[in-house]
Amino acid sequence: MRYVVNPTMKGAYIHPEVYGNFSEHLGRCIYDGIYVGENSKIPNVNGMRTDIVEALRRMKLPVLRWPGGCFADEYHWRDGIGPKESRKKMINTHWGGVVEDNSFGTHEFFELCRQIGCQPYINGNVGSGTVQEMQEWIEYMNSPAISPMANLRRANGQDEPWGLKYFAVGNENWGCGGNMTAEHYADEFRRYATYVRNYTDQKVYKIACGPGQHPYYAWTRTLMEQAGHMMNGLSLHYYTVPGSDWRHKGSATDFTVDEYLLTLAKAHYMEKLVQDTGSVMDLYDPDANIGLIVDEWGTWFDVEPGTNPGFLYQQSTMRDALVAGISLNIFNKAARRVHMANIAQLINVLQAVILTDGDRMLLTPTYHVFEMFKEHQGAHLVESAISAPYYERTDVAPAAASRGRRAPLAPYRTPYITESASVADDGSITVTICNLSPDTAAPIEMRLDAVSARLKEARILTGDMHDKNEFDTPDTVRPVTFDGVRVEAAVNGTEVTYTLPACSVAVLRFEA
Ligand code: AHR
Repeated sequence: MRYVVNPTMKGAYIHPEVYGNFSEHLGRCIYDGIYVGENSKIPNVNGMRTDIVEALRRMKLPVLRWPGGCFADEYHWRDGIGPKESRKKMINTHWGGVVEDNSFGTHEFFELCRQIGCQPYINGNVGSGTVQEMQEWIEYMNSPAISPMANLRRANGQDEPWGLKYFAVGNENWGCGGNMTAEHYADEFRRYATYVRNYTDQKVYKIACGPGQHPYYAWTRTLMEQAGHMMNGLSLHYYTVPGSDWRHKGSATDFTVDEYLLTLAKAHYMEKLVQDTGSVMDLYDPDANIGLIVDEWGTWFDVEPGTNPGFLYQQSTMRDALVAGISLNIFNKAARRVHMANIAQLINVLQAVILTDGDRMLLTPTYHVFEMFKEHQGAHLVESAISAPYYERTDVAPAAASRGRRAPLAPYRTPYITESASVADDGSITVTICNLSPDTAAPIEMRLDAVSARLKEARILTGDMHDKNEFDTPDTVRPVTFDGVRVEAAVNGTEVTYTLPACSVAVLRFEA
């Protein structure tokens, strides 16, 4: 297959935040997964698991969203500050009906982000909160002045404001965040956002709730028309669900070739969503100043047998690695409009990058894809194209239909090879490429046009589509050196040839 990359044709900046993650008070994501408390036998710093923090630093996690999700629209931030013994205990009604003791709150979240070295992204409560509550949370986090909330923060041990940048005004307000119409939410967004004040030069980047079920484009249009002037970003949620409806989503580990390919084709539907949503946004914001923030995406399967259905714990295989590779390549290519994305979720929930079991942890195939793609962060997209055959299905509807309004049958069409390429400020070139085929290797003839390049790194993640990491065998799926990449100087360019094995994700890096 012929593949052309043109590193001299520089496109949009790839915001590092596109490689973000999402963490919710859901199942074992926060408690157990991240936060074990200072007195735990599991090695920790201020209650945060050391093994997890180190892994996330290696992955170069740029931004983390918290505290939800649906949980965010029932979260009252004052429950999670002050002495831990007097924090309110409550039932997590959305997720598993377990006791939430609020021992992980605002201070702990900022401490986690400090340890990881990532940007915090906080989701505010519109569904069951008040304007005053949201205004005071922002004041608590960002005000350097003498003021009631800043004084309360100081009394709780944090003198300096944290200077939060990313803040979402509600979550899924068409659903669990209040079941609002687009018109009603647009009014609410403007009212709440008015009081999300800037206390310092660090302006708050305000994210409005965008679409997450059909009809995607009507919601987007209303929000852009009626509230576009007050937002910096608009969210979009899309989950890859191979099953026919939300009660039969399909197993995470036991699937047929047909289900494998359908899952990847459904993941690839993201391309259409971001392009079409972007086109609607272009009508109101032609220079793409407002970011499309894909702050929930990833696979959603049936929970692992024997686990709490409300905890959304699922295993992760090479199929998930392909979903991650497909999606991240799509986001790179849509860099002009997609300014942040957050996979759901960080640990032990949905398409997690890490799973834990007591003091043990493992990196999922999805983790490795994020780590392999990390050099795209902060680089510029470059022109690239490959001619590859397509896999197509026109007989299935998005599973989201059964949660919301009726959806039309979706045409799921995905090339067997997906790719993207970028150039960093120091001139180094990163190419990431996936072969979706379950059984056929792809011979690639790649041309790096108009540059003379030297191979710096070639790594590959590959295996059977069912391969996964388990606690006793945590390294079954891991990136290895990609042997057999041949690089030859050519007239006005560099020719690179290699054979991409079936079911694989590869990264190639060059010095120009
Ligand atoms: O990620 C799980 C849930 O999916 C989130 O809480 C919600 O926003 C979405 O419906």
